[in-house]
Amino acid sequence: MLLLNGLNKEQELAVLHGLGPCCVVAGAGSGKTKVLTERIAQLIKNGVAAQQILAVTFTKKAAKEMKERLEKLVLRSTCKNLWMGTFHSICFFILKKESPNFDQMVVMDKESMKKRLMQQVLGPSTPTYDGMDWETDYKTCLSFVSYQKNRLLRPDAYKKKISLLESEDDLLKWKMYQKYEDLKDENQLIDFDDMLIRCYEMFRDNPEILRKYQQTFKYLLIDEFQDTNVAQYELVKMLGVQNNVFVVGDERQSIYSFRGAKIELFINFKKEWPNCKEIILETNYRSTPNIVEMSNRLIGVGAFNYRGICKAACENGAEPIITCYGCADEEAFGVVSEVDVLHSQGVPYEDMAVLYRLNAQSRAVEDALIKRGIPYLVTGGFGFYGRKEVKDILGYVRLAVNLNDDEALTRIINTPTRYLGKVFLRTIEDYSIRNEVSFFEAIKKCPMARERKYRKAKEFVEIVEKLHRYNDLEPDKLIRLVLKETKYLEWLSRDEKDKDSEYGENLQMLQVAAKRFDDIDSFLEHASFAEKAAKGSEDKFKGKVRLMTIHASKGLEFGTVFLIGLNQGILPHKNSIEYAMGHIVIPNSVEEERRICYVGITRAKTRLYLSSMEYWMDKEIDDSMFLEDLYGEGEPCG
Ligand SMILES: Nc1ncnc2c1ncn2[C@@H]1O[C@H](COP(=O)(O)OP(=O)(O)O)[C@@H](O)[C@H]1O
Ligand SMILES: [Mg+2]
Repeated sequence: MLLLNGLNKEQELAVLHGLGPCCVVAGAGSGKTKVLTERIAQLIKNGVAAQQILAVTFTKKAAKEMKERLEKLVLRSTCKNLWMGTFHSICFFILKKESPNFDQMVVMDKESMKKRLMQQVLGPSTPTYDGMDWETDYKTCLSFVSYQKNRLLRPDAYKKKISLLESEDDLLKWKMYQKYEDLKDENQLIDFDDMLIRCYEMFRDNPEILRKYQQTFKYLLIDEFQDTNVAQYELVKMLGVQNNVFVVGDERQSIYSFRGAKIELFINFKKEWPNCKEIILETNYRSTPNIVEMSNRLIGVGAFNYRGICKAACENGAEPIITCYGCADEEAFGVVSEVDVLHSQGVPYEDMAVLYRLNAQSRAVEDALIKRGIPYLVTGGFGFYGRKEVKDILGYVRLAVNLNDDEALTRIINTPTRYLGKVFLRTIEDYSIRNEVSFFEAIKKCPMARERKYRKAKEFVEIVEKLHRYNDLEPDKLIRLVLKETKYLEWLSRDEKDKDSEYGENLQMLQVAAKRFDDIDSFLEHASFAEKAAKGSEDKFKGKVRLMTIHASKGLEFGTVFLIGLNQGILPHKNSIEYAMGHIVIPNSVEEERRICYVGITRAKTRLYLSSMEYWMDKEIDDSMFLEDLYGEGEPCG
């Protein structure tokens, strides 16, 4: 029998699967997304109405790509009727349609909006939170709130859950959570997590609405199921009563547990859904055998027994290359030189990606690319010089160099928090216009700045004047002085619980970067240039080398991948090793790091370059524990 559209037997089995639940388990590059797309086309060809199909992707971008692929298989006008998107976008759509008043709600789609709301919760006027500094704590609090909502735990339910083992800390968190929700409701705001939990609750409390959608969605198809959270899973259970739930995933690629994803939901899917058909795809069509074998070695020795194996279908290509460099800048130089060589051989820039575990790692690569004049795009985040903490510190440096730099002053006057907010700044601005002086002069001269509530203004002036006196220091020393005088790091790191934050590394990296410049002006000029260079619309990646974290690369593929920083403490991340070696042993977190490494490697189609460093931030650093596994028998790093 002729197979459909060049699919293999198992793929075809999945595409043509009839009624009942089905779980496709497969390694990277085995055509999971392809199968899901083809299946939708097949359903439509077999007479299923597009509006009866609900297809869920992990990102908006993936939904867009899937739509484009589908438009080649079925009529465009039919595609329009599909329910296709992320869980969030689909829930949002349903909520808008079904709940009166929902249209008046404002979505907090900017980080700054959530921050402002959390500021109100934690702000100094709230006695409960004395000692809590919203500027540093808000992120931890927001991710706590998000985590609970993704487990479908409203404040009441959370309180019940903790009441047995109640600690001061838990109670404080509960109060914060409750207040955040109250304030949000009062102001008719919703955050992203609300879309899931609200939709879930609407269905739970309105059986007739639920029934309508249960009848509408005859077929559910979900990609990247290994990163599903509890709220999403419960929605699938509610909506999937017609039992035609088709999920595809790879437990080797579950890397979002910090956002509430639960790998068990995928692993146990077959058990939870009676008569579920399990199909395992074992052929990798993306990468060369060398790359596939390397990824198998890595994932095969972990603590976990993953289902299925991966065999490569492509012809063999170049051996993956592992190089050990001295430091991040040498590594970046090596990577960029290779980019140059490949490009001169005809490899387009956009077909090359540099992947890393930590955002701070992008700095050296960006600098090296700029130096060679190679265009690049940082996906899913900011370029190094566009990150908040970097811009804050450089704001001080700019002001130290030029006391008339009003823009720099505006940026940092209240960073760290000095209670010199908008009102203060407006008065300063007025004064400066009226008297034709800089903002800095205005702060010194304006009578209002001497009011008691603005007593911190004097402190600010003293810091800036001191920095100004020392502005001919070497660039890295001047930055260190800024950090010392402003106590910026202490201010940011007062909350040690926020382990995911990378500001510390970024600021250390800033000093490393500055050391390479002789004078501060040329460093500042470089930073401005680099900030602009990294910006760009993510759709416009043509002709640009792609830079991104491994997390952001999930689901994508590139001809050439450079996976950098294979070092202990970077990949695996230092938090996971601390856990594994300290009192609380959480092998799962090292295992998740192994999966992250696996995701990185398996993005490569034909060329894979791995590298490690001897020094990181001027300190010696070990090779990644994963290198040995990647090599197999061979000799690590020569
Ligand atoms: N049967 C097949 N024959 C040829 N190429 C395939 C086949 N199945 C998948 N591919 C290709 O392999 C690559 C990976 O497919 P994709 O669906 O993205 O995999 P996954 O979602 O499992 O990571 C894509 O370039 C896809 O077009
Ligand atoms: Mg995929």
